[in-house]
Amino acid sequence: MSTGPGVDRPDRAGESPDDSSSGPERPEQAPEAGEGGAAGAASAPSGHAMWADTTSGTADNVGYVPTGGSGGAQPPGRSSQGESELVREALKDAKVSHETTVTALKAMAGRREREWPRPGACRVITIANQKGGVGKTTSSVNIAASLALHGAQVLVVDLDPQGNASTALGVDHHAEIPSIYDVLIEDTPMADIVVAAPDIPNLFCAPATLNLAGAEIELVSKVARESRLRRALDAYETDKFDYVLIDCPPSLGLLTVNALVGGDELLIPIQCEYYALEGLGQLIRTVDLVKAHLNPALNVSTILLTMYDARTRLAAQVAEDVRQHFGDIVLKTVIPRSVRVSEAPSYGQSVITYDPGSSGALAYSEAASEMAHRNAGAAT
Ligand SMILES: Nc1ncnc2c1ncn2[C@@H]1O[C@H](COP(=O)(O)OP(=O)(O)OP(=O)(O)O)[C@@H](O)[C@H]1O
Ligand SMILES: [Mg+2]
Repeated sequence: MSTGPGVDRPDRAGESPDDSSSGPERPEQAPEAGEGGAAGAASAPSGHAMWADTTSGTADNVGYVPTGGSGGAQPPGRSSQGESELVREALKDAKVSHETTVTALKAMAGRREREWPRPGACRVITIANQKGGVGKTTSSVNIAASLALHGAQVLVVDLDPQGNASTALGVDHHAEIPSIYDVLIEDTPMADIVVAAPDIPNLFCAPATLNLAGAEIELVSKVARESRLRRALDAYETDKFDYVLIDCPPSLGLLTVNALVGGDELLIPIQCEYYALEGLGQLIRTVDLVKAHLNPALNVSTILLTMYDARTRLAAQVAEDVRQHFGDIVLKTVIPRSVRVSEAPSYGQSVITYDPGSSGALAYSEAASEMAHRNAGAAT
């Protein structure tokens, strides 16, 4: 069992603070079967108007409208050269084997000039929203995969008894596997449970098993019950990673509180649906309590709009409301609803490896790039 990256962080000499001149470049957007034409509304880099014509109901003119140049809808990302050629080469045959995709992605990961800036110290990012099914796990896994493929050392901590993040990373999580349950309840060191994700270099996972379902109750009687994850992460010397992403269960119980105490930043995924904002007040109140009593440094740094359906006015309206309310902490990139995104976990993969040219993969890559290029974020 591999137990995480070496103690020393790899040498960072010669890294560019910004990759804007050299990439990353991405493949042209490939149409996706079964997506109803909603693909491609993923992102709008600065200098482009967002949400123009979002009410027209057509899929390909929504969400990304160049304010200059030749006009017309364009996919997110830049013209294809280099890295994208690698991927396109891998995708040339209609039947792309898993190995081919992984080989192409590993080649991408090996190109230092494609790397995104890495933080000076490890960023521990908790991904929480007590509302179920809003894209917490999908965002954790795909942002982690994107960051790792662009040179960062990344650990995903699966803090949900469902173990969905472990599944999506292709990591075993049956009952006998040493897991985050053992860390929280039995004081097992993180080093004993962390395993490498099989498909992506630099990506590691602290898996969750079903045992974790009992942890909410077992934690109640433990000393420092809210801080046990933080303690474990501190003891693990997380500075060997650039990012630790903690995927939370859909509740505000002790597991999520542990994640809020353990994190420096909070990323809230918000689904572009009618009830999206319901419960957010409660989440923010919990964050305030944690800040007041347990983790003053916690910062709501990022909001990510997920499952955006460009064909509906509702999605545009929700996105607009969220931007008005939360301002700059909302990522410009929006994750479109995408069949490929939902298919990927059943193959034990992120969408980044499952279908690198799909709208979902491109959008998650763009979102991760935004996060990597941003500072830790604005205050709550
Ligand atoms: N962009 C997307 N397009 C299509 N389906 C998606 C997208 N994002 C997530 N899904 C699907 O929606 C469902 C819920 O997503 P996910 O598991 O990431 O949410 P969650 O917030 O982690 O859920 P839970 O609260 O149960 O942990 C999953 O079946 C996932 O595959
Ligand atoms: Mg989940």
